[in-house]
Parts: sequence; C-alpha cells; structure tokens
Amino acid sequence: MAAILTDMVKFDIENSVLCWLATVDEDGAPSVSPKEIFTHRDGDRLIVADIASPGSVRNILANPLVCISFVDIFRQRGFKVKGRASVHVAGSVGYVENLEHLRRLSGSDYQIRSVIEVVADKITRIWAPSYLVYPNFSEAERLERGYATYGVTPMGG
Ligand SMILES: Cc1cc2nc3c(=O)[nH]c(=O)nc-3n(C[C@H](O)[C@H](O)[C@H](O)COP(=O)(O)O)c2cc1C
Repeated sequence: MAAILTDMVKFDIENSVLCWLATVDEDGAPSVSPKEIFTHRDGDRLIVADIASPGSVRNILANPLVCISFVDIFRQRGFKVKGRASVHVAGSVGYVENLEHLRRLSGSDYQIRSVIEVVADKITRIWAPSYLVYPNFSEAERLERGYATYGVTPMGG
C-alpha cells in the first residue's frame, strides 16, 4: 500500500509550528486543541507529546478516532490527517521508543506525560484560498508574501 505520510507531507509537518488535534468524547462531542510538539514516524504514524492534554487523552481512550491538521503558515498549505490514536503511558515500550523524537522538539524542560500515537488512514490536502486566486505564484513569491503578512524576517534573510 502506498505511504500516506509521503515526503511532501513530512516536509509540511516539519515546517508547521503546531498542529490541531481533534478528538471526540464518549458521547461524540468534539474537542480540538493545539499541540506544538509533534512529528512523523515510520509506518504512517504521527506522534504528539501529551504535556498538558488530559482532555485529548481521555477522549482517545474513549474513542480512538482523531483528526490532526497542520499548516505551514508561510507556504499557506498543509494537510488534514485522520486516523486511530493510542496513548503510550510513561515507561511503556511505545513511550520510550518515541520519547527522544519528541524531546528533540521540546527540549528537556517539559515533562511529557504520555505519547499520543496516531496511525494515519486518510489524508486531505489543505490549500489557502491564495492558491486559487494566485495559481501561478512561485514558492519564493508565496514565502515572500507569507513573511510580509506575518511581519517576519527569515533568519539569514
Ligand atoms: C501554542 C501552543 C502549543 C501547545 N503545545 C502543546 C503540546 O505540544 N502538547 C500538549 O500537551 N499541550 C500543548 N499545548 C497546550 C494544550 O493545547 C492545552 O493545555 C489544551 O487545553 C489541552 O486541551 P485537551 O486537554 O483537551 O487536549 C499547547 C498550547 C499552545 C497555545
């Protein structure tokens, strides 16, 4: 089966400052919250650090269906990934295997209480409307506009 988290998806993950993790509780009520510490792993997996996310963890334990979206705000594009989540509690094999990948992003000041792992099964592209309005812009032009929009000067730029 073809990979879901292709190099293109991984590139956007690495260039997204955070993701939004949507979960549902046992009654089907939705909840969404931002997570900055997240990355991709092999096997079409995404991992997210549970640092301060008791609600997401509670919901996943009740219903593993989740959706994660992320966008590269400067390139104005991203993805929406649906899948099944599980929670690796501190000390478990899954927690230990994934911890260093999250620690690389968080540093050591934050306590990662558990690791949320999502196995992706569906992916949809997210484009900003600017791709419709200005379809012929180059990536460099889009980046330039993105930096201007957010008042950012890229490092070394
Ligand atoms: C910019 C930003 C980044 C965040 N990153 C994380 C994160 O990586 N992991 C985490 O557990 N909480 C993170 N949080 C905090 C959670 O989003 C917040 O505690 C939220 O209320 C958790 O909701 P939940 O318990 O329903 O998951 C972040 C919050 C913000 C504003």
